[in-house]
Amino acid sequence: MSMIAPSILAADFANLQRDLEMINRSEADYVHVDIMDGLFVPNISFGIPVCEAAHRHATKPLDVHLMIVDPDRYLEAFRTAGAHILTVHYEACTHLHRTVQRIRELGARPGVALNPHTPVEVLSEILPDLALVLVMSVNPGFGGQKFIENTYRKVERLAALRQASEADFLIEIDGGVNAQNAALLSQAGADVLVAGNFVFSAPDPEATIADLKKKTR
Ligand code: DX5
Ligand code: ZN
Repeated sequence: MSMIAPSILAADFANLQRDLEMINRSEADYVHVDIMDGLFVPNISFGIPVCEAAHRHATKPLDVHLMIVDPDRYLEAFRTAGAHILTVHYEACTHLHRTVQRIRELGARPGVALNPHTPVEVLSEILPDLALVLVMSVNPGFGGQKFIENTYRKVERLAALRQASEADFLIEIDGGVNAQNAALLSQAGADVLVAGNFVFSAPDPEATIADLKKKTR
């Protein structure tokens, strides 16, 4: 069974406490927090104060996805704002090894995200240092986009690398996750499924989280 991480990018920001309380009651495992800087990705989402506010109301660990250039500048701030997992983009880090060590020093779990065009093999030297690899299944920047089918192949290759290396990172999928692809992703090796619009645009988001999870059994 996969874990579910609802993305609050698709929540109602004017009712964030209500939406976080829904996640608290639900079978979700993490709260996915999407940080966008308008530079690494074309969109701007929200920043440190909103992450802090989410941390005050969430009972599940915050899974913070930094879609920002040169994320080293903000690692400490997001850790202080409550990040449990801190994920940076491979494409945004010149000295990824140093960044990953820094995340661990701060007491968070280090994750690295890969854009759809980036092969999983680029992480081969650093996989044993990671707690999570996030495979983008859309181009980052916006919720509600169409799932890229090549993701299954990437997840299978990453799961094979994990087995060969005896590393024990989680494989997380982010973008366009829904009831149609959840089971296949889980079979391919996904441990965590991020879901934004599929959860928050449903008439009953709490039941939708439970259904999504059930699909991955
Ligand atoms: C996209 C974000 C995703 C997004 C997923 O850049 O990283 O986490 O919120 O949203 P959906 O599930 O709507 O594709
Ligand atoms: Zn994300």
